[in-house]
Amino acid sequence: MATKRSRKPERGPARSSARKDTDHYEPPPVETRNSDIHGRGVYATRSIKKGARIIEYLGERITHAEADRRYERKGDDDGHTFLFIASRRTVIDAGVNGNEARYINHSCNPNCETVIENGRVFIESIRRIKPGEELGYDYQLTWESTDDPVELALYACRCGAKGCRGTMLDREPVDKQKG
Ligand SMILES: C[S@@+](CC[C@H](N)C(=O)[O-])C[C@H]1O[C@@H](n2cnc3c(N)ncnc32)[C@H](O)[C@@H]1O
Ligand SMILES: [Zn+2]
Repeated sequence: MATKRSRKPERGPARSSARKDTDHYEPPPVETRNSDIHGRGVYATRSIKKGARIIEYLGERITHAEADRRYERKGDDDGHTFLFIASRRTVIDAGVNGNEARYINHSCNPNCETVIENGRVFIESIRRIKPGEELGYDYQLTWESTDDPVELALYACRCGAKGCRGTMLDREPVDKQKG
């Protein structure tokens, strides 16, 4: 998902799925508490099976231009963001009217992934999750090969996973990605 953002919103793989009943509401089996990775994190309150839709990423729906404007205002020394790219037109700012999903930290060995469906973003399990386990997905933050390395260093990962790649950034810059 290519954008020309100078800073990096949260994003997930642009996988779409036509499945799962979202009309039947059950409270998400998660709670928010302090995390060893960063700040607050989100934890399973019960066992979650593989392939479960856990929670929707909610927040104010804004344009990319508005997201850029809000993010630039935050200053250069702060990589923290509650932004998620939902489409080429829309960014979700979970800093406004967001839910617990905004506290899910990045992991290089994730137990969750994000699924974008009709412009809505859902967090789903990609393996069975035990009660008390912290939820995580790979942020794959967008960056460009021309970005300042000092700025990119702000996105260092502290997930502690075996094989941690050391950054929350995507593996390749958007300007070098195929397609
Ligand atoms: C959507 S917030 C996640 C919730 C965050 N822990 C909090 O308390 O607000 C995303 C921010 O959390 C931090 N973060 C999340 N995962 C991280 C990780 N694996 N390593 C370092 N910082 C992380 C980064 O500052 C990131 O911009
Ligand atoms: Zn990591």
